[in-house]
Parts: sequence; C-alpha cells; structure tokens
Amino acid sequence: MTSAEPSLSSSRLVATLNGAHCDRPPFWFMRQAGRYLPEYRALRARVPDFLSFCLNPELCVEATLQPLRRFGMDAAILFSDILVVPYALGQGVAFREGEGPVLDPCRDATARQVLEDGEDRLLERLAPVFTTVRELRRCLPADTALIGFAGAPWTVATYMVEGKATRDFAEIKALAYARPDELQRLIDLLVRASIAYLDAQVAAGAEIIQLFDSWAGVLSEREFERWAVGPVKTIVTALKQRHPGLKVIGFPRAAGVLTRDYAVRTGVDAVGIDWTIPLDWAATVLQPQAVVQGNLDPRLVVVGGAPMREEALRILQQLGSGRLIFNLGHGLVPETNPAHVAELSELILGWAGA
Ligand code: CP3
Repeated sequence: MTSAEPSLSSSRLVATLNGAHCDRPPFWFMRQAGRYLPEYRALRARVPDFLSFCLNPELCVEATLQPLRRFGMDAAILFSDILVVPYALGQGVAFREGEGPVLDPCRDATARQVLEDGEDRLLERLAPVFTTVRELRRCLPADTALIGFAGAPWTVATYMVEGKATRDFAEIKALAYARPDELQRLIDLLVRASIAYLDAQVAAGAEIIQLFDSWAGVLSEREFERWAVGPVKTIVTALKQRHPGLKVIGFPRAAGVLTRDYAVRTGVDAVGIDWTIPLDWAATVLQPQAVVQGNLDPRLVVVGGAPMREEALRILQQLGSGRLIFNLGHGLVPETNPAHVAELSELILGWAGA
C-alpha cells in the first residue's frame, strides 16, 4: 500500500471483514442505487444513454449517495456498470430501453485483436470512474465503507461473446467446449484489465472490492474451476499483493455447492450467496471458510411486510451470530417499493440478537 492511498473508513463492514464481531451484522444491498428510486429516475433523465451516465462523475456520485441518505447502509457501492470494461477495451456497447445491454459480439480472432489493441487505453477511458471514487471517498462519512467492483471475467465474457443477455449461453459454451484456447485468450485479457481497473479503483479510495460473477451458476464442475475460480483467484492474488489490507467479496451467483470450492480456492474474504443456498449449509460449510454475504430473495422486498420480515429474521438468526454481511441474493429490482427497503433496513439496524 502506498502512503498516498486514501485513509480507510472505520465501518462495520470493514471490521466484519477483518474478523471483528459487531453488535449487528453490517448491511448493504446489491443494486441499492437505481430505478426503484424516484430520485434516481429523475437524475437518469438528464442523460440520454446509460453509458454516458456511468462516465459522468457528478451524476455517479449523486446516484451512489441517494440510497444512503434514505436507508443508512453500512456501505456505498460505486455507481457504474460491469460493462464499462468491454466499452473501455473498444467494444461497441449500448444499453437499450427495455432490452438491456447490446454489444458487438466478440467471436473471432479479428474481434479479439481489436480489444487486445484497446488494452493500452483502458485506464484512460475509465478515468471518470476513478474521479467518482475519489470524490465519494472524500464525501462519505467515516463509518461508511466504499465498495468498488467489476464483473468477474466469465460473466463479462458472456456478454462480450453473446452480445446480449442470454438464457442458454449457446455461443460462449460453444467456444468454451470447442475452442477453449480462444476463450482463454479473452479471459486472460479480462483478468489483466480487471486487475488494472480494480487496482486504480483502490488507489482512488475503494477499500473493498466486489467481483460479480452473475453467471457462474451455469458452469459444470470442471468449467467452473477453469472459468470462474481460476481467473478470480488470479485477480484476488494480484490485488492483495499490491494492497495488503484490501478485502475482496466474490459473488458466484447460483453456484450451489460449488460455492464452497470458490470460497476455499479463490482467496476471497467474503462469499456472496443467493437464496437457494440453505442457511444451515452456509453456517456449517461456508462461514468457517469466509464471511458470508446474503441472501434475501429480492422478490421478498417487492412483496414486503411479514413475508419479507420473517425471512430476513431467519437469516439474521441463523447466520447473524457468525460472520455475516446482510445483503440480498441478487440485486433489487426496479418495481421494488422504497418503503419496503426502509422497513428492511430498520429491521437490520434494530436487530439485537448477535
Ligand atoms: O447500486 C449498485 O449496485 C451499483 C450499480 C450497478 C449497476 N449495475 C447499475 C445499473 C451494479 C453493481 C451493476 C452490476 C451489473 N451490471 C451486473 C452484475 C450484477 C447483476 O445484476 O447480476 C450485471 C450482470 C450488469 C449488466 C447490466 N447492466 C444489465 C444486464 C443491465 C440491464 C438490466 C437492468 O437491470 O437494467 C444493466 C443496466 C444497469 N446497470 C442499470 C443500472 C442502474 C439500468 C440502466 C438505467 O438506469 O437506464
């Protein structure tokens, strides 16, 4: 760690990741900023396309802070998107209303070469993100941690190869099974890009990094080892070498029992779990290996009321006396009523059972 690095916060989240036992578990919610908040929709309306929004520090700082003002989470997560990395490597990326992301598919050597040639300009093109991080660290209170993030290589590669969100992963699996060396080159590029990108986020003031592996759960055992565990391990090792105090959260979504291998082998400090993971399994198998982050179904936050409270309490009771970061099993969805997020936040803030 260099002496120029911004000072760290004294948040519950950092304390928990350092092994301390707090009076209540720290909490934040994946996709805590975004369209379910009317103030985000108003801000978003000022810029026509989402990528320009992500590259505008003033708007991103404000979007990051919006949920904290309402709900008092223990952490802010940088407002950005995992697809700024393919953009910065030179791939065509657009976000279309109602359709999600659309990318110029990268499926052959020529397309890959263009991205490898773009690697030199990666940090320059992502400079606005680092400005956002620096500004956030300056204005966040000391008890609020700042989480930086990137997509894990496998998940980012699925969008780069498929060109859009996919249900069957036909193109990337064809590549993985039939021409694995070609996929390896793309993954290696993403590993290098992720290290450079996250290293710069940490230098700018991010004290925790989350790697989103949203599509880790579609891989078989051997493929999971090669495309999810391996690349994440390389990234975690490199980042921790450069920043010894850094904490990393990995989220291999829907990985089921393979989550254990991921927690043991990647070197992450915390592992995110979705709502399909049984709580007693998380307590006995995962918590001895890593801090566990999760795992309320975001659909329960849409429903709110007693069903949401009951399940949140069950999570707190079963995992809250061990190493837990309370979170959801995936991101908040746009149709969520902010009043339900407030109710959930108050429940966690008032929980005294730890
Ligand atoms: O509050 C936060 O969590 C920070 C912001 C954040 C966004 N995307 C903002 C966003 C984070 C952490 C992400 C991560 C992300 N982006 C993931 C991993 C987590 C997950 O959901 O699995 C993935 C797969 C993406 C790629 C992506 N970005 C998709 C598939 C979409 C379209 C679907 C959707 O939710 O709209 C996006 C767009 C996006 N990213 C929006 C936001 C607020 C909506 C765009 C808008 O506001 O117009």
